[in-house]
Amino acid sequence: EEVDVVVVGSCMTDLVSQTPRLPKAGETIHGHNFFIGFGGKGANQCVQAARLGAKTAMVCKVGKDFFGSNYIQNFKDNAVCTAFVTQTAEAMTGAASIIVNDAGENAIVIVAGANMLLGEEELEQARSSLAKAKVLLCQLEISSHISLQALRIARQSNVKTIFNPAPAIPDLHTDFYRESDIFCCNESEAELLTGTRVASVDDAGHAGLELLKRGCAAVIITLGPQGCVVLQASNPNPKHIPTTKVTPVDTTGAGDSFMGALAFYMAHYPSMSLEEMSRRANLVASVSVQSVGTQTSYPFKKDLAAELL
Ligand code: RIB
Ligand code: NA
Repeated sequence: EEVDVVVVGSCMTDLVSQTPRLPKAGETIHGHNFFIGFGGKGANQCVQAARLGAKTAMVCKVGKDFFGSNYIQNFKDNAVCTAFVTQTAEAMTGAASIIVNDAGENAIVIVAGANMLLGEEELEQARSSLAKAKVLLCQLEISSHISLQALRIARQSNVKTIFNPAPAIPDLHTDFYRESDIFCCNESEAELLTGTRVASVDDAGHAGLELLKRGCAAVIITLGPQGCVVLQASNPNPKHIPTTKVTPVDTTGAGDSFMGALAFYMAHYPSMSLEEMSRRANLVASVSVQSVGTQTSYPFKKDLAAELL
């Protein structure tokens, strides 16, 4: 079966506590709500693309445990192809402990577990499907050499590559830039990668230019309520794409909603301008910040205005 979007990436069980504020070191505070959700940047992005109508496949590893089996069912419920989802007895399904404060901000600790055991053999199994896809999406919650290998395979087959260097690492291999058609990160990741402060739209333009110089075809830096900044090798002038103002309830996974939407637009409208795709992806992500959780807050096709699809 042909797929539009392949994601080689992570699955995490999100263990979420809502609290008035983030605790300090050594401090205990009362939260007012707790829930368990399906998360992990790779899976989040895949599910968002699927909900907008892309045919998606996930290449990932979960544990041979309750959380892993549950996660596979979640992919099926979201019409994500699970042919390349494997289970291991060697590690637990990835877990993310998340605290969300009343301002909708979060702090997250991930234990990647089974995600780190996704290896070359599993990627090989997916090679022929990946080579026929329209778009590949990768992040950094699995072994980074597997993400890089996936980007290389896609590039060799003329599949468009979107790379999200999250969570960011300071010494990112330079090939990640060269293998990315779109290199998309948020302001804090851009700061870490460039060593410059990104506190404004102008700063994002400068950081974006620096990232672009490292060899990607395009750079997008997401800026939360400020939307994003887009730069292309063919048009390196930073372009600010603002977004609508909303009241955030929970911004966890908003970046993943943006990424998944972007992948959907690239697969379905290959000739649409990157600015327009980014504008629409901003609006999809703005829906997600208005309710709690990651995937639980991601809109379906039916929830969106026709002009966004
Ligand atoms: O980007 C949000 C995600 O980051 C959460 O779902 C959590 O699992 C962490 O991976
Ligand atoms: Na949300």
